[in-house]
Order: sequence, then structure tokens, then C-alpha cells
Amino acid sequence: EKAGFEHFMIKEIHEQPKAVADTLNSVLHDGVIDLSDVGLSEEEIKNISQIYIVACGSAYHVGMAAQYVLEDLARIPVRVELASEFRYRKPLLDKNGLAIIISQSGETADSLAALREAKSKGVRTLGIVNVIGSSIAREADNVFYTLAGPEISVATTKAYSTQLIASYLLAIQFAKVREEITQEQYDGLIAELQTLPEKIQKIIDDKERLQWFAAKQVNAKDIFFIGRGIDYAISMEGSLKMKEISYIHSEAYAAGELKHGTISLIEDGTLVIGCLTQPALYEKTVSNMVECKSRGAYLMGLTTYGNYNIEDTADFVTYIPKTDPHFATSLAVIPLQLMGYYVSVAKGLDVDKPRNLAKSVTVE
Ligand code: F6R
Repeated sequence: EKAGFEHFMIKEIHEQPKAVADTLNSVLHDGVIDLSDVGLSEEEIKNISQIYIVACGSAYHVGMAAQYVLEDLARIPVRVELASEFRYRKPLLDKNGLAIIISQSGETADSLAALREAKSKGVRTLGIVNVIGSSIAREADNVFYTLAGPEISVATTKAYSTQLIASYLLAIQFAKVREEITQEQYDGLIAELQTLPEKIQKIIDDKERLQWFAAKQVNAKDIFFIGRGIDYAISMEGSLKMKEISYIHSEAYAAGELKHGTISLIEDGTLVIGCLTQPALYEKTVSNMVECKSRGAYLMGLTTYGNYNIEDTADFVTYIPKTDPHFATSLAVIPLQLMGYYVSVAKGLDVDKPRNLAKSVTVE
């Protein structure tokens, strides 16, 4: 059932172009987003005052990326929270708010409790869920189903990628309905979304160099992932992928925060991975990488084809195809998934079933 692959994780990484395309095609008809299956009317979309995104783990990292996209395109204020925090902090919620609960399994105890908390305050709830008929899907007022198919590996890859797609589609549709973008911008964003499957495929096809690089990191003690804005959200997912399956301590840091403490942890040879997909923040993050290098860090850069001057700073560079910066997470995450995977394989670990972890966390 692994279809010739060594592990479910690498099989599922390869399934991402299809999972992304399927999720796109489920709501895109002739280049137009149709949310009638999700069930949010234009009137309801216009009345949304606030968005609360609530989730755990990687799904929370989707929320982090989605926050930037929703706020920038739809101009609706977004707050992203860990479900385990949201459920107990007695949140003050606006009745015209929309709570978006993101969950692959639809059974995560804290996410389900957060959904119930929002509902009890009279707030509309929208689940972005992969498993049909799961608890979150049943209890949410509206459901956007991701079409990742069954995910076996404990570390999520293809479900994460489809959750991103669902959040982009919501952001574009909200932006359109609320007249925050022109028809031309709308068409451009949709056309770009449709290129993502082939761009993801290209990154997967180029995996050998990453495999070689990852195999050299097996003795790393700490790895830091840094970035700004959407690149910070990407860093968080890259760091989680690395630590959960390779057991190497890693941290994601907002690049501008390094000098407020973390930079003291940089030693000779510490791997620092700089995520540089956002043109507006590129130079800022490069200077943070230079600061790390002068403390002895070994630098990897993750950026877009064309940004070749990064080679003046970074010791190793991975390039991803160009896309609209709003969607960069979908491409940048692929090399980071592959890195975590190949480090784990090189260490001979149980990639699909990392110690102490469960696929579906149904207890809090
Ligand atoms: C990490 C991972 C977890 C899940 C989290 C939420 O690779 O898979 O962090 O993202 O446990 O699970 P769901 O999405 O099922 O609510």
C-alpha cells in the first residue's frame, strides 16, 4: 500500500500535486470560486467583522500563513490561536465574527472544544477538515473539505498543503465579495493558484540535492529556521517537521527577534535556515542571516529562482519556482518536508511513527 515508496511520508509528499489540484478543482468551476458546497452566502461573507482561526500543530501553522493572506487580500482582521489556549482563555468574541477551525482528522480534542466554545458564544463556525463525517465536520456550521485523501504518516504533509489551498480560496473569495480586489486581480490570483501543482511537482523532482544535504545534518544538535511575515509561518512548519521526525532540536524564530535572545545559542557550525520568499522582506532577513554567520552559523537559504545573490551569504541554497508571494508557503514547505524526511531516514528512525506521537490527538 506504500505503492513502491519506502515510507508513507514520502508517498504522501509525492501525492501533494494531486491533493492540491483536487482541492482546487473541488471549488473552482471555469476559473470561478464556487463556495456553494461550503454554504457561506455573499451576505454572510460581507458581514464578517473578525476571523478567529483556531487549530493545533501544523494546522495552526496553516492558520499563521492564512492570517497574512486573509488580512492582506480581504482586509478582515484575523487572530490565530492554538486551540488548547483558545478554549480556556474565555475569549471575547464578536457575534459577527467567523471562527475557522482547521483540522485534518476532525477529531482533535482541543480543536473540537474550541469549536464548541465559539458556537456557545453565538459565533459562526467553519471547519476546514479532511475526514468526512468527523466530529468537527459534523458540528461546524459550514465545512470546507480538503481532498488530501487518507493520510497515514503521523507527520502531516499533504493535508497541510490542502489546508493552505482552502484558506487561499476563502481569502480570494472574501476579497472579491467585499470588493477589496478587482476582477483582474481575482483572475490573476486564480490563474496563479492553478500553477501550484506543477510547481510543487518540480520541487519534488529536484529532491536529490536536498537528500544529499540532509544526510550531512544527522549530527546537528540544534537547527534554527528564521523568516519574516509569511516566511515566519513557513519557518514554524519547517521546524516542526524537522524536530518531530528527526529528533533534532529546532526552533522557528521571527528573524527580527533573534537579537532579543536566541542569537546567543548560535555556535560554530549551527545550521540556520533562512526562508526568503517575500520580496518586501528579503533584504531584512538576509541581514539577520549575516548576523548569524558572523557568530559562526552554517547558513542554508530557501528562496525563489532569480535571487542568486543569496549565494554571497548562504553556504547552501535551495530554490523554488516563483509564485505570488501570498502562496509562497505552498512551495517553500516542500523542501522543508523533504529535509525533515531525509534527516530522519539518514538517522534510521521510524519516520512514519515518531516516538510519543499519535496521528489523531483525541485527548487534551
Ligand atoms: C504535525 C502534525 C500535527 C497535527 C495536529 C493537528 O506534523 O501532524 O501537529 O497537525 O496534531 O491535527 P489535526 O489536523 O488532525 O487536528
